[in-house]
Amino acid sequence: MKKRWWKEAVVYQIYPISFKDSNGDGIGDLQGIISKLEYIRDLGVDVVWLCPIYQSPNHDNGYDISDYQAIMDQFGTMADFDLLLETAHALGLKIVMDLVVNHTSDEHPWFIEARSSVDSPKRDYYIWRKGKDGGLPNNWESYFSGSVWEYDEKTDEYYMHLYTKHQPDLNWENEEVVNQINDMVRWWLDKGIDGFRFDAIAHIVKAVGLPDAPDPEHLPYVRAYSLFSNLEKVHKLLRNLNEEVLDQYNIMTVGETSGLGPEQALDYIGDERNELNMVFQFEHMQMDAAAGGTGKWHLKPWTLLDLKNILSKWQTVLHGKGWNANYLCNHDQPRSVSRFGNDGKYRKESAKMLATLLLTLEGTPYIFQGEEIGMTNPKFELIEEYRDVETLNHYHESQKNGVPLEKIMESIWKKSRDNSRTPMQWDSAPHAGFTTGKPWIQVNSNYKEVNVQNDLQDQDSILHYYKKLIALRKHKDALIYGEYKLLLPLNPDLYVYIRTLEDEQVLIILNFFDETPTFTLPEDLKGRKPQLLLSNYEVEEEGIQSFEMRPYEARIYQLKSK
Ligand code: NOJ
Repeated sequence: MKKRWWKEAVVYQIYPISFKDSNGDGIGDLQGIISKLEYIRDLGVDVVWLCPIYQSPNHDNGYDISDYQAIMDQFGTMADFDLLLETAHALGLKIVMDLVVNHTSDEHPWFIEARSSVDSPKRDYYIWRKGKDGGLPNNWESYFSGSVWEYDEKTDEYYMHLYTKHQPDLNWENEEVVNQINDMVRWWLDKGIDGFRFDAIAHIVKAVGLPDAPDPEHLPYVRAYSLFSNLEKVHKLLRNLNEEVLDQYNIMTVGETSGLGPEQALDYIGDERNELNMVFQFEHMQMDAAAGGTGKWHLKPWTLLDLKNILSKWQTVLHGKGWNANYLCNHDQPRSVSRFGNDGKYRKESAKMLATLLLTLEGTPYIFQGEEIGMTNPKFELIEEYRDVETLNHYHESQKNGVPLEKIMESIWKKSRDNSRTPMQWDSAPHAGFTTGKPWIQVNSNYKEVNVQNDLQDQDSILHYYKKLIALRKHKDALIYGEYKLLLPLNPDLYVYIRTLEDEQVLIILNFFDETPTFTLPEDLKGRKPQLLLSNYEVEEEGIQSFEMRPYEARIYQLKSK
């Protein structure tokens, strides 16, 4: 397998608005990030992925960009960014930026010009259509509820937006758009950044003719996923971007590509494809495909057998052919400890167990800010405390459809993107030390217990466990390049696997629940001599032939031939 720096890296994801506020306006900013770079370096990670920091009217927290080459005023200036990049590099950290090119903001000069007249030279930068039979151009449903079409009175046409109406989709069929994007990407790379996370990249090409999606249920809008996702031309465009720009830089790229399995993912990341280094897959997030106004806005319950199945499939299909991007949460997903662990009695144990999984799979691990201290979903009582546009649209849509309030709030507590967007909990000062002002969104009420300062002081904390895991991964090649094999596939409580690189073998044993099941070493490993590398509990016994596991226990063993 080819060795690459980004295969050996650990990534830390920052959601800037919630990371650290330096000037008391209640909004995280670049100077705040700079002040915490040493903290990030001390974790042992190599790469920081910054969610969008570009100029934006903020209808979707920066994913609606009005100037790709300027910094959002609330976050600081380009000089702040340059300092951030320089400081990060001096500390040995690389910086990866979000690249949001499926759409711009409706306040981007391109769109302002495009919507001014049907004859505007920029008109074709976006996707415009006349209405059909007195209605919408087609029946596609937007990600954030309602139709993908917004009517523009002035020119009597509709423009497409897969996300909010403030995020018009760019028309990648237009060569000038492609060239503009190439230039912008080159501009950032010439500044010295180390890579990109390609937002919504699966959707940049739409089916020819924009046909209606089949609608047996006669819904007002239909999730037309396959008509705007992972179409063949996306690959051509990505290869073109590599040939024209990316190939000239030693960077890493990761694409956000929902709706595909590992075989299809290889079309993006196969070693020979020259498209992307990795993709974020969504199968283990088990999102319900039909979000939005259909009332199905919920997360499917998961079982460990499903999770093992999905992750194992990705691990084995990609091995030797492509590279995984592993994550358990991010700014769009609930907190991992609330979702896959236990955010009550066993918060510490389960957060460490999940960390063990994240850091010992094959693929580059992505840690989302606050995950390293076991931050949890906040569960705000009132809808007024929520800020996320997707959550608020869902709330209003459900209310309109007569869904009882408790049911709406229950789904929000589980699935809202604000679950992971509450401010980073630095210490036990007011607002968790995130800001001296009023935070843009409330801090989780558990901040006096769950915060970085507490974790730094406690040698047994989740934070210290992360540091140990990251360090372990760094010096055990088997944990990076080793082949993954699932053991005990039918065990519903334990997730056990082995990573093998030549004669080095590492065994990972995870108890996913608060019960105490017995682990028994599979017959074919009985001849090996185990050496404990790390665990989230004290381990006294020497042998591992058979033992009772404690709630959410995790152990990593090196197996040696006797
Ligand atoms: C995916 C991003 O992660 C999400 O936060 C955003 O709302 C959409 N893409 C649209 O850019």
